[in-house]
Amino acid sequence: MGEKAHDVEERTLVLPVRVDATPRGAIERAAELLRAGRLVAFPTETVYGLGADATNAAAVERIFAAKERPYSDPLIVHVPDAGAVRTVARDAPGIVAALGERFWPGPLTLILRRAAVIPGIVAAGGDTVGVRVPDHAVARALLEAAGVPVAAPSANRFMHTSPTTAAHVLADLAGRIACVLDAGPCAVGVESTVLDVTANPPRVLRPGGVTLEALREVAPDTRGPDGLFAPRSDDAEGAAARAPGQMERHYAPRTRLVVFDAQGERALAAVRAEVEAALGQGERVGALLPDDEAEALAGLMIAVARLGPGDDLAGITRRLYAALRELDAAGLDVIVAHTFGTSGMGLALWDRLRRAAGGALRAV
Ligand code: TXA
Ligand code: MG
Repeated sequence: MGEKAHDVEERTLVLPVRVDATPRGAIERAAELLRAGRLVAFPTETVYGLGADATNAAAVERIFAAKERPYSDPLIVHVPDAGAVRTVARDAPGIVAALGERFWPGPLTLILRRAAVIPGIVAAGGDTVGVRVPDHAVARALLEAAGVPVAAPSANRFMHTSPTTAAHVLADLAGRIACVLDAGPCAVGVESTVLDVTANPPRVLRPGGVTLEALREVAPDTRGPDGLFAPRSDDAEGAAARAPGQMERHYAPRTRLVVFDAQGERALAAVRAEVEAALGQGERVGALLPDDEAEALAGLMIAVARLGPGDDLAGITRRLYAALRELDAAGLDVIVAHTFGTSGMGLALWDRLRRAAGGALRAV
């Protein structure tokens, strides 16, 4: 094995920027690093991405080394506007214009046929490429200044929780990347929806920031994620072999996580029983809950991360990963949580909570 980029310690430059992409000097500096084949973490509306020049195979290889990510997991290519899609994809089915018009810039990644300018390493050697136009002024300014398409997975180590702040990025990747643009917390909080439009009808590969309901307003025959509700193994390698990047254990804290597939009173009762049983075993316990439910458990000796009002799914989504990281850093034996249904943003939350729990939810 050759020397990996992450074996080489480098000082990671932290460049603060405002959400309106000023000062301009920070953007220019980061764009220069990208053009030089270096790794730059940057904010998007979903999560922070770890960017490299997508046309430079050696630069893209550094992403895999820094994240310790297997080459079998393909990367998303980011472009500044819908017009630039034709520079990275060979052809776009008719539906792409309509989807781009409605959802770009925004948290939607489209799987298209890969153009030759994008090296195979970006796409796990496959014939397709994921493309997205992010809705964050800093990301778009960076893409424009760099003048190259930017391959960027989430800026976390492989299988860890995705970063929604620059501090999260540094916790995983300081010393392994050249630079991070720090523009504060991300607005959406989970990754983009990945939609395969090379399939007919289009198929959601990963639920995310654009809901299935919204997609169906533009492409009514869109299929939901395959086998989402079927029981699966949590064998990461087996799952990886079945579908690149769709590992069951993903977005995961190191602490054991128990997630009940329920809401409301039933969920709260199940959480309370689990918490009390764990406390009875002498375990250190944490709970990830909406504010009102956190109040209801206030008498128990547990660490609680609050997700905001229970009826605000966008707010819960925005806070989820930071809350998971916070509890994961608290030295606990177990974290207890529950799902938020499967409609609207509930589906992405359901998916991420299930993966964070190792692929299995607890029935109530
Ligand atoms: O919101 C996001 O999508 C963030 C920000 C940085 O843009 N990026 C992100 O990238 O979440 P990553 O690498 O963590 O997740 C990309 C997912 C992977 O699960 C991968 O399998 C899938 O997209 N993907 C990428 N290219 C693909 C392709 N050609 N075919 C099928 N799936 C693909
Ligand atoms: Mg990721």
